[in-house]
Amino acid sequence: MAKITVVGSISTDFVVTVSRRPEIGETIEGELFETSFGGKGANQAVAVARLGAETNIVGAVGGDGFGDLLIANLQEENISIENVERVTEESSGAAFINIENKDNSIIYIPGANGKVTKGSIERAHAVLEQSDFVLIQNEVKQEAVEETIDYCYENSIPVLLNPAPGRPLDESYINKVTYLTPNETEFSILFPGEQMENIMKRYPNKLFITLGAQGVKYHDGNEIVNVDAFEPKELVDTTGAGDTFNGAFAVAVTNNLSIKNCVTFANLASSISIQKQGAQAGIPQLNEVKENEYYEKEWNIK
Ligand code: RIB
Repeated sequence: MAKITVVGSISTDFVVTVSRRPEIGETIEGELFETSFGGKGANQAVAVARLGAETNIVGAVGGDGFGDLLIANLQEENISIENVERVTEESSGAAFINIENKDNSIIYIPGANGKVTKGSIERAHAVLEQSDFVLIQNEVKQEAVEETIDYCYENSIPVLLNPAPGRPLDESYINKVTYLTPNETEFSILFPGEQMENIMKRYPNKLFITLGAQGVKYHDGNEIVNVDAFEPKELVDTTGAGDTFNGAFAVAVTNNLSIKNCVTFANLASSISIQKQGAQAGIPQLNEVKENEYYEKEWNIK
């Protein structure tokens, strides 16, 4: 069984469903309010664990009651919490999510996630060293992202950076990551003013641009490839679709699939995830993906 470590945020999502967003100074009535488990790091770890890998998470929660629930949820998902620090002076991370027309916009408050530092990653070197693959996103400090990439690069551990939310990144780090998975907005923050085609060509089989319903684009060394998205039976909520994609991609890489099949498998898992409300609720178990009509037996994901 592959060992995958996710470095990243662990948060509570406060989700409001509305028919439209209020104007400044306006009060409107919402349709639904729910809390659910989220955080890009935790969502990716849940995806990896449900799809069959031995999963560790490196992160932090606060000293509040939310922190207890967040930790219990990770344990229930069979994710090792040995490297989750308890930051008593902070509240746990939170995301305020508006869902309008089945699409979302998010305000993210780091809280304890903002206390994941270079030192936290250094304390987790042992678990990173034993990993077959490492995933990280941008809901923790830049110094933590850089230390993770540096350590993985120096120790030849494949590392995927999902640059969400978008923020600029020094080219030396782009060179050191094995995989980089921005969406369109994040792409334009990483490569301002650049044409996608040119940059994809510069980073073959490394840069995967996720385009939602339009699928995923990358350059395979010869040409630009567009792997179509699968249409869900019913679209309920796209929150966490990107996280499912990244987690599933990591699982596929550690199962030695070709790059194109890794993207296809990740697209399939992601299309299943958007058929339920909540970032983690729809993330499929491996058998659910295997039962899907588009799952290819030859992938043989274990
Ligand atoms: O990618 C979705 C996640 O990002 C949500 O679960 C929320 O926590 C946000 O920060």
